Amino acid sequence: MTREGKGEPARAPRGILSRGRDPLALLSAEFDGVHDVWRSASGMVCVAGPESARAVLGNRDAVVAEASDFYRTRHGDFGPRAAQIRIGRAARALMRRHLDLRRRELPDLVTELLSPSSVWPDAGNLLVFRHLRDVLLHPDAPPQLHSTVEQIVHRAVLAGARRRHSPVSRLLFRRRALNVLHTEIRSRQRGFGVAHEPRDLLDVVVDESGPGSDPKDLAEVFLSFLFAAVGSVGFALGWSVYLLGTHPDRLAAEPSWTVREALRLWPVAWLFARTPSQVQELGGTEVAPRDQLAVCTYLVHRHPGYWERPDEFVPERWASAVPDGAYLPFGHGPHTCAGATVTMRLLEDLVELVTRDRRLSVTPHDGAGPQVGPALAPPRFTAVLTDRSDCPGRR
Ligand code: HEM
Repeated sequence: MTREGKGEPARAPRGILSRGRDPLALLSAEFDGVHDVWRSASGMVCVAGPESARAVLGNRDAVVAEASDFYRTRHGDFGPRAAQIRIGRAARALMRRHLDLRRRELPDLVTELLSPSSVWPDAGNLLVFRHLRDVLLHPDAPPQLHSTVEQIVHRAVLAGARRRHSPVSRLLFRRRALNVLHTEIRSRQRGFGVAHEPRDLLDVVVDESGPGSDPKDLAEVFLSFLFAAVGSVGFALGWSVYLLGTHPDRLAAEPSWTVREALRLWPVAWLFARTPSQVQELGGTEVAPRDQLAVCTYLVHRHPGYWERPDEFVPERWASAVPDGAYLPFGHGPHTCAGATVTMRLLEDLVELVTRDRRLSVTPHDGAGPQVGPALAPPRFTAVLTDRSDCPGRR
């Protein structure tokens, strides 16, 4: 059960991801910095220009078929749009409440899970999972469901987890896990119409989807939340820690600059799938409904026409005006991430806790590069945290 396995941001990534070569290297080699839209060797039409990317994702002129990678299920997009919007709003409100209530737990969690050393990116995902666990599933949810969600994190959300299990074992696990989720969703649907505050994100999905929704679709929407909250947030934290640890001269940067710069260089959501609605010209290339568009924010964020020193980690650039229109880590337009603000706040808090009063050192594991899948995960590395008061020569 990967993001692809649940049918999420499947179309564009699959074409580009399945070619056996590093897709980032492939796309970077194809992009000449001038032609912002082109037909890639992968067979997709790639979009690397900020204007075209915003035109596609914003979709004001209906240039693409309405779609959201977040709500994509095996049966098409979960809908209607009104339900998507209700779910996004209610999820954001619940997350915000949870983060407000639990913020004070973060320092102890960082000490417990990261000191003195930790192996990443898993450490980031597991830290975020511990912090968000009760908002994903409330503590009174059935123990079997808790254990299933925990297994999904270990078998599908962590970077590279998929490779650690055979296809048969993945298929069997997927069936078992979805059965458990469907049973719980059906049971919660039986209480539909009885007014109550949502206790967790599964309640949000069930309550706001309206009566009669297919439990299979709702399970996939819930999994999107799990992948976003534990996977994407954990990877973004991992990138921030990795970049700070490999650029010790930048350790004093404002946490908010670090997080923004990490998401610029390594946007976790780096590739968006869309389909043109009709034959039309996009950034100088003719596209048609049979084409698959792949909007690549990795390239948009490093576009040489918009960014100075695009490939360098320069958190200080965020101290002054940046080309906002060329920065889309949470998407753009109607489907912009509903969790963007809460995510940024959590990431900034965590980066501050990891770096404040501590010395951070990072050792990349041999041969490790970015782990490229539907989400862009950092390489494997070990992070060592030392209290500054323990450093020799410090009083
Ligand atoms: C670093 C963490 C995250 C990143 C990089 C991220 C990125 C994105 C992106 C790029 C989209 C747009 C997808 C598209 O246009 O096809 C999106 C949509 C969405 N995200 Fe996030 N996300 C993150 C965390 C979260 C969290 C924690 C939540 C939970 C509240 C969340 C909830 C949503 C929802 C509900 C949507 C669908 C919005 C809509 O279509 O109306 N995301 N996210």
